[in-house]
Amino acid sequence: MKDKLQELNDKKAKAHLGGGTTRIDKQHAKGKLTARERIHFLLDKGSFEEIGMFVIHRSTDFGMEKKQYYGDGVITGYGTVNGRLVYVFAQDFTVFGGSLSETHAEKICKIMDHALKNGAPLIGLNDSGGARIQEGVKSLGGYADIFYKNVRASGVIPQISAIMGPCAGGAVYSPAMTDFTLMVEDTSYMFVTGPNVVKTVTNEEVTAEELGGASAHSTKSGVTHFTAANDLICIEKIKQLLSYLPQNCEDKAPKLDFTPGNEVREQLMDIIPENASQPYDMREVINGIMDEDSFMEVHPDFAENIVIGFARIGGRSVGVVANQPYYLAGVLDVNSSRKGARFVRTCDCFNIPLLVLVDVPGFLPGTDQEWNGIIVNGAKLLYAFSEATVPRVTLITRKAYGGAYDVMNSKHIGADMNFAWPSAEIAVMGAKGASEIIFKSEIRAAEDGAAILAEKEAEYAEKFAHPYRAAARGFIDEIIEPRDSRAKLIKAFAMLENKVDVLPKKKHGNIPL
Ligand code: HXC
Repeated sequence: MKDKLQELNDKKAKAHLGGGTTRIDKQHAKGKLTARERIHFLLDKGSFEEIGMFVIHRSTDFGMEKKQYYGDGVITGYGTVNGRLVYVFAQDFTVFGGSLSETHAEKICKIMDHALKNGAPLIGLNDSGGARIQEGVKSLGGYADIFYKNVRASGVIPQISAIMGPCAGGAVYSPAMTDFTLMVEDTSYMFVTGPNVVKTVTNEEVTAEELGGASAHSTKSGVTHFTAANDLICIEKIKQLLSYLPQNCEDKAPKLDFTPGNEVREQLMDIIPENASQPYDMREVINGIMDEDSFMEVHPDFAENIVIGFARIGGRSVGVVANQPYYLAGVLDVNSSRKGARFVRTCDCFNIPLLVLVDVPGFLPGTDQEWNGIIVNGAKLLYAFSEATVPRVTLITRKAYGGAYDVMNSKHIGADMNFAWPSAEIAVMGAKGASEIIFKSEIRAAEDGAAILAEKEAEYAEKFAHPYRAAARGFIDEIIEPRDSRAKLIKAFAMLENKVDVLPKKKHGNIPL
């Protein structure tokens, strides 16, 4: 891979100096691989079988009949990644800018049909100027055919979209309806309307990169799940992502060989700070519990107050949803609720068990949150957990306050096993806030109100700032020492391996979108 990167850099430099003139050189000069190179690096050596290599477009307007290129700007076929079947299409920017003609769309649809019928992931490597302008509505129809099939395949097979060049206009809706989107930094962008239209309509001046580059979509909009510094890293991330996913919704999530050893993790004993309002990095808990180096964070730079991602525990693939006290105290807000809900549903449709780590002070208050729909967005997360039938395990590390306690995979909404560390505080709210409300008149009447508040706060904390009351009701199954978490969770997931839970018969639920 290093050699290829070097070669790319050399080519980039050469083209910059005027040495390269072919369309392929131009592609390399932008720091991009060609469609064929991308497929080469994605699939196991020698496994690619191309379908539709000789397809040509049928357009006759604007002298197009004289401009024919085999394949019509997209390479389609199947092969294997680490021995597992996948279907792939890669748009070829060197042919009409990778633009989508009627036949180009038909090739993609054919691959999608195969993927759906044969139950294997579909990977789209997008690099396209959008609808083939010379073809008009035929091209728009082609896009709609793809969108329709994206939805038919949703929840049946994993669909992964890598954006490795332009992706503009309605074209963005195919990636948006797949399970995962990856964007390459500096060479890719996605937007519904580009900078020129933005300038005309709103008078805003913005570059393509600012408007829809990898950075904008990984931090501001949350449209992309991953970013990659270049094409090769993007392809490596696709392969890593596939390693956690089953082939289809009827398949079990992959499990690697695992031999139990000493699963005690002393480092987990020192993570929770003495002071309950001090932050800590929940990623330390995740990495301490999971199999070494197995955590692949999804959406790492968006709504950082919740951490989501795939990992392995005892070789099993699991999805992790965790409040992040390091950022906004781990509070739930509009974006973190959306982010969490989408991920829970992704895991649930692909039989990936869920581990939920809880340290949440509640929902973020304020007009901004209320007017942006924290009610309906918070409900998404609640709905997603309540609906999920995969094995669901919760570990409360510290705060589990108010409605957020219920939402974060509590026993009441169907979690299978609920653990808490001794540091857990399960209450309607923190001791100070609670005392201020329920002892308001006593505090006001007292000469030394502060002293009374401190006394009441201590009393409330003693009553509620621990997990034992919840455990006494059976809302918590076991209170465990942090060091034992990994061993306990390995056993819990093994115990839940054959869980069967069937939702009541319905057409589909009505998640508050
Ligand atoms: C036909 C296209 C094309 C298109 C690019 N090309 N886009 N041909 N249809 N949509 C061709 C160019 O004519 C050129 O051909 C070659 O591809 C490379 O394009 P360049 O412009 O030289 O490349 P670059 O400078 O890198 O610019 C890339 C680009 C630009 C930013 C994508 O080409 C561009 O703005 N294209 C039009 C984008 C667009 O408006 N698409 C429609 C969007 S609406 P030659 O032969 O000269 O090399 C849409 C609706 C979808 O897609 C609706 C779905 C519901």
